[in-house]
Amino acid sequence: MKKLVPKIILENYVKNNFHKRFEAYSLFIDISGFTEMTEKMMKEGKEGAEVFSHHLNDLFDKAVDIIYKNNGFVSIFEGDSFTALFKEKKCRITDLLNSANSISNLFKEEGELKTKFGIFRLKFNMGLSYGETQMHIIENKNQNSFYFEGESINKAATAEKHSPQNGIVFSKNLFEKFNCSINMKYRTINDNFFLIENIPVLEKTGTKIKNNREYKKTMKDFYPESIFNKKLKGEFRDVVTVFLTIEKTKKLKEHISSIIEKTHKYGGYFNNISLRNRKACLLIYFGTPTTNENIVQRASKLALEIHNLKKLNSKMGMSYGRVFTGLRGGEKRTDFTCLGTEINIAARLMQEAGKNDIFIDTNIYKNLKDSHQIKKISAQYLKGISKKVPIYNLISRRKDFNKNFFKNKFIGRKKQIRKLIETADPLKENKFGGIVYIEGTAGIGKTRLTYEFRKKLGNNIKWLYLPSNEIIRKSFNPFKSFLRSYFNQNENNSQKQNRTNFEEKINNLKQKIEEPEIKNELERSKSFLAALINIHKENSLYYKLKPEGRYKNTLYALKNLILAESLIHPVILYFEDSQWMDNDSISAIEHITRDVKNYPFLIISECRFKEDGEKFRFRLNNINKTVITLQKLSRERTANIVENILGSDISKEILSLIWKKSEGNPFYAEQIAKYLKENNLINKNKKNDNVAIQIPDKINTVIISRLDKLTEELKQIIQTASVLGREFYVNILSRMLKNENISKKIKEIEKRNIWSAINEIKYIFKHALIRETAYNMQLKERLRKIHKLAANTIESIYKKNPAKVYGDLGYHYEKAEEYEKAAKYIELEGNHAKDNYQNQKALNNYDKLLNNYNLSNNKRTEIMFKKGIILRFIGKVDKAKNTFKKIIESNDSNQLTKIKSIRLLGELL
Ligand SMILES: Nc1ncnc2c1ncn2[C@@H]1O[C@H](COP(=O)(O)OP(=O)(O)OP(=O)(O)O)[C@@H](O)[C@H]1O
Ligand SMILES: [Mg+2]
Repeated sequence: MKKLVPKIILENYVKNNFHKRFEAYSLFIDISGFTEMTEKMMKEGKEGAEVFSHHLNDLFDKAVDIIYKNNGFVSIFEGDSFTALFKEKKCRITDLLNSANSISNLFKEEGELKTKFGIFRLKFNMGLSYGETQMHIIENKNQNSFYFEGESINKAATAEKHSPQNGIVFSKNLFEKFNCSINMKYRTINDNFFLIENIPVLEKTGTKIKNNREYKKTMKDFYPESIFNKKLKGEFRDVVTVFLTIEKTKKLKEHISSIIEKTHKYGGYFNNISLRNRKACLLIYFGTPTTNENIVQRASKLALEIHNLKKLNSKMGMSYGRVFTGLRGGEKRTDFTCLGTEINIAARLMQEAGKNDIFIDTNIYKNLKDSHQIKKISAQYLKGISKKVPIYNLISRRKDFNKNFFKNKFIGRKKQIRKLIETADPLKENKFGGIVYIEGTAGIGKTRLTYEFRKKLGNNIKWLYLPSNEIIRKSFNPFKSFLRSYFNQNENNSQKQNRTNFEEKINNLKQKIEEPEIKNELERSKSFLAALINIHKENSLYYKLKPEGRYKNTLYALKNLILAESLIHPVILYFEDSQWMDNDSISAIEHITRDVKNYPFLIISECRFKEDGEKFRFRLNNINKTVITLQKLSRERTANIVENILGSDISKEILSLIWKKSEGNPFYAEQIAKYLKENNLINKNKKNDNVAIQIPDKINTVIISRLDKLTEELKQIIQTASVLGREFYVNILSRMLKNENISKKIKEIEKRNIWSAINEIKYIFKHALIRETAYNMQLKERLRKIHKLAANTIESIYKKNPAKVYGDLGYHYEKAEEYEKAAKYIELEGNHAKDNYQNQKALNNYDKLLNNYNLSNNKRTEIMFKKGIILRFIGKVDKAKNTFKKIIESNDSNQLTKIKSIRLLGELL
């Protein structure tokens, strides 16, 4: 069981004690220069964070182990630091001092990290103290949380601030505690703090704290299931980090609980709370442990909502980027953590922020600049980060911003537009138009098509916008969202103002309606519509009814409102993202479309294919139904989209690269084009078909959010398969996974539209980017292992006929970093190609060996000689001559090859 919550919390929680006071010794340790070190490591690419975390965690685990061996426990981890407490009732001061001493020795002995990216010397600062301590549990229906506070914690942290590198500083009150009983050498820093010069080796306390009770179930009240299910050591993910501080007031617990609530509402993950010196610091992530789409938008909504609670006086720092994320820690205590420069930036931004500021980094800024009002603050040096960091202050969402506003030129889709226009024909004759389904995969252009259709129709038709939300799948969600904007409701308005806006709008509508039945119904509907937007009036009809009556009347009310609107002007009900629609809304639509022949409205349901590949349909009878299924764009059309972004003089190679990656999905094509542009990867004169590109973050999250919805087991199967390539053989995969039931699982994944069968033994990932994303999110360490496993498996399956798989073996061994074996197979592949007159293939293999591998002198000449022979054979005389010359001139070549080369060169001259 992963021990994410200290035992003291769980013990008290099961007894319903949410608050406890005790006296404790305290230890605060912080790794110095951590931010700088992370930054240096991350310059090596994201693998830097992985390698760094691996070494760092190793040391951290040992330090934590020391704490637990000495009867203490870790109350909180904060990035590169942690706080440990030793309850006075169960521990003696010697436990604290022994811990400090052992950790200090640990750093002396093992603080030097020898990594593949260089050697790093980890140093620490430590503070020790004593005092009153409190633990608090915050109960929340989504997720509980906890924190510790008190004199012990504050003073240990302040002591740490006074400590030099690798120093241990203790506070005056701790000194008073042991007074003369321990013969310790120390130096005075000031009246309140002392630097330890030498701790004697102290006798251990006899008590051993038992640690055998499990609180498995209760632990899950504190952390999401997905964390406990994680089997892997870590992953790479695009993460939004939100650090925020609020001041401690009497209502602190209430405020934190409300922030937890809001975090869940927007699909974020509330990680932890630390409280020191009357300030609570909360850490929230979006994008991990599981992700949703549009995390930057979600996080910004949360930030602004918290910001609007001015009484909190919050200060926030927010950043976005690809980081290492995973669990760390051993048996005694585990922690969920993210590591990367971005995380450190968010923490620093929070420190820079003033009251009610939301400081954001460049990546967040880029994502929000069109939709939000943002103020640029000057670039600043932040502690530990070498470059100046541009800082922005997020002010508010722009009211005039239309999320579905598209700037780039619309390409193709003429037939679909024509079909859509036809569907609106009945509206002209004041008739009901039925339903139109616009469907297809993510990013294929459904919203864009609807947008163009709307432009074509002009202003005579009123559009009602009813979006469904991926996270909030609550009852009547798209209708609620529509009603809020229809009745001019705003969270920042007072209740009274919202109520007035509602009344005004509905009275206004009533006045315009002549049909008595509808008019009367509107009056009856009022309290039901109001309830949907949280306007409640005692004694209203809504209040008088039981739930069933309320539900039925809500359906009538919605229908009535729409019919009323359609009597004023033709209406289109535009349901966006119906794949996320709740069941009550589905029933409402079924109700709304019954017996409405003479009301001019049309329903558009825009929908992705469902996760199981099924198509989304309402149960509607006897009404017009049109289905528009969008397919991928042609190569030429995709090129048009790219040219709109990159200009028409873009090279063929770039176009071909984008075509290969996007496979005609306009969203992918757009994102990749923008990525290339932003990262200056477009060199119009140069061939850059092979530029290595990272998958743009927006594509990455769309795909990872799909993978996150699968079970951990299926996800791991997909990740393993991704190592085998876009196409893979079932027998190889199943041997690798040692799983008998694999074909059932593979079919399950097929149903989820991740891959499809080419034939009985071979499968293909539906999209190249799904494979790439699944591959890239894995740690390098794991990838090496799986590549090795793949190589071994293929080797054994093709024992009798290895020539078929030389190429695969060379590739997998290379990725596994088993270079000797890789070289062997690359050469074999080259020879095999040569024997079969596949000359270019042979040359490619030989070149790969010569350019990328450390070969022995003999081997090098041998390969060069073979290369020369092929070049001569295919008539590349100059190149052949050069190759032979090089062999002859080289001191390393053996005599026999030299003689042969001289002869062949002579023939060519
Ligand atoms: N025919 C097109 N011409 C030009 N650009 C297009 C076209 N179709 C889609 N795009 C662009 O591709 C991007 C994705 O399109 P859109 O948002 O319509 O996809 P979607 O199918 O609604 O995806 P989702 O399921 O994620 O909502 C948009 O930026 C859009 O402008
Ligand atoms: Mg869409």
